[in-house]
Amino acid sequence: MNQPIKKIAVLTSGGDAPGMNAAIRAVVRACTYYRMDCVGVYRGYQGLIEGDFEQMSARHVSNIINRGGTILKSARSLEFKTKEGRVKAFENLKKEEIGALIIIGGDGTFTGGLKFIEEFNFPIVGIPGTIDNDIYGTDKTIGYDTALNTVVEAIDKIRDTASSHNRLFFIEVMGRDAGFIALNAGIGSGAEEILIPEENIGLEKLVDSLKKGRDKGKTSSIVVVSEGDKIGKNVFELADYIGENYPAYDIRVSVLGHMQRGGSPSCYDRVLASRLGVTAVETLLDKKSGVMVGTTNNEISKVGLDKAIKMHHKINKELLKVAEITSI
Ligand code: F6P
Repeated sequence: MNQPIKKIAVLTSGGDAPGMNAAIRAVVRACTYYRMDCVGVYRGYQGLIEGDFEQMSARHVSNIINRGGTILKSARSLEFKTKEGRVKAFENLKKEEIGALIIIGGDGTFTGGLKFIEEFNFPIVGIPGTIDNDIYGTDKTIGYDTALNTVVEAIDKIRDTASSHNRLFFIEVMGRDAGFIALNAGIGSGAEEILIPEENIGLEKLVDSLKKGRDKGKTSSIVVVSEGDKIGKNVFELADYIGENYPAYDIRVSVLGHMQRGGSPSCYDRVLASRLGVTAVETLLDKKSGVMVGTTNNEISKVGLDKAIKMHHKINKELLKVAEITSI
C-alpha cells in the first residue's frame, strides 16, 4: 500500500441486515469528505466479478439512512470461491483504478476478503453487518439490535394469542450457528425456555421445565428456538416430540423467518453503522488492511479479519442465569 488511495469501492455481501444502508452512506460521505472517489459494487462479490459498478456521490446516498436492506443489493457468490472468479474481480478493480475495498457482511464475506488479500495483496477493510451477531471483535454487529427489536415485537404479539388460548408456542428465530438473537429476544419477551446451539439443555430437561411451569400455575408458555439449535430436531419435530411426551398443552409452531432481516434500522444500528463506515475509510487512509472495524465497550476497535472469523463471539453466561431465574 505505497500509493495514496484515490478511489475506494464498497460492497455488501451475504445476508442483508438493517443498517447496511447507513454504513454505505457513511463510507460514501467519508470518501467525499476526504476527497476520494467512491464506487458502489452491486450484488457483492458477484458484482465485483461482473464489473457491476457505479460511481457514488454524496447525493446518491440521500434518504437511505432509514431504509432496511441494502441499496447495493447482496448475494452469496459461488464464483468468487473459485480462483478464476477472484482473478476477474481483481482485473475489474485494476481497470477502474480502485485502490481499496470496504466489505460489509458476516463471516462468509470476511473469508472471501481474506483470500483476496492473500492472493492479490489488495487493501481491504471489513465492517460487520449481520443480524446474527456472531462476529468476534465487536460489541454488536450492524443489524442485530434492529432484528432483536423486530423479534421481541413479534413474540409479544404471539404471546397475546398464546395466553388467550392457553397454548404452548415454539417460536423459531434466526441465527444459523449462534444463539444471540434467541437468548436476548427470549429474555426480552419473557420466554419460558430458550434453546440455543451454544447450550444444549436436552429434551428431558425441556419437558421437565414445561411440566414444572404448568404445575406452578402457568397457563401458556413460549419456547424460543434458535434455528441453529442442536437439540437434535427441527422446530416442528421438536413440537411433535413435546406433544407426544407431554400432551397437557395445545401446541403451535411459528417460524419468524426472513421478516427478522427487514425493517427500518434502530437508532443504535444507524449510529453504529455511521461510526464504522467513517472508521473503515479512515483505516484505509492510515494504510491498514486486513482488519475489521467494530466497537469494544462502545469505543472504536479493530481486529484482524482472521480473528474476527475464527474466534467466536461468546454467549454471556450471566444472561443464561437471568433467563433461568426470570422464567420461573
Ligand atoms: O446470516 C444471517 C442469516 O439471516 C442467518 O441467520 C440465516 O440462517 C441465514 O442468514 C439465511 O440465509 P438466506 O437468506 O440465504 O436464506
